[in-house]
Amino acid sequence: MLRHASGMARTDTVELPLPSPYDQLGGAPAVRRLVDAFYDAMDSDPDAAGIRRMHHADLGPIRDKLFDWLSGWAGGPQLYSQRPDRACIMSAHAPYAIGPAERDQWMGCMRTALDSLTLEPDVREMFESAFGRLANGLRNR
Ligand code: HEM
Repeated sequence: MLRHASGMARTDTVELPLPSPYDQLGGAPAVRRLVDAFYDAMDSDPDAAGIRRMHHADLGPIRDKLFDWLSGWAGGPQLYSQRPDRACIMSAHAPYAIGPAERDQWMGCMRTALDSLTLEPDVREMFESAFGRLANGLRNR
């Protein structure tokens, strides 16, 4: 306890860094689980058949790309920006027709993926609404 010259007591405070969204999600293992559950859903949910057709038959490489991108986006290691094949996220989607139906299919898979993690309700809500804004922003139709 520090005391002011006046003799008034004040509680000493220690500044702790706030946990990043990446930490709140559960770090690298959680991002990996999220990405795998996301592409598993895209690969198997008939409601996502439309966007599944827009992706390569082999989802292996994009699993790694999304893992790297999400890691940096959520405040973890900036893996995607270190990739030699990095791209601006907007231009990476420009070749694909993304309208409300594609956005909603993508979000459906992401909700399934978020369900596969055990998250505090406020953390879940933060990620779901951030993904919603992002997916809507990638619309080009
Ligand atoms: C929150 C929204 C989204 C995020 C964070 C996201 C993320 C990504 C990333 C990181 C890539 C790899 C880019 C690269 O080539 O380096 C990618 C590719 C792609 N995304 Fe998205 N995306 C989102 C929404 C969407 C939506 C709504 C669609 C709807 C069709 C979509 C379709 C695709 C396709 C077709 C590819 C290329 C797939 C492939 O190469 O097999 N994405 N996305």
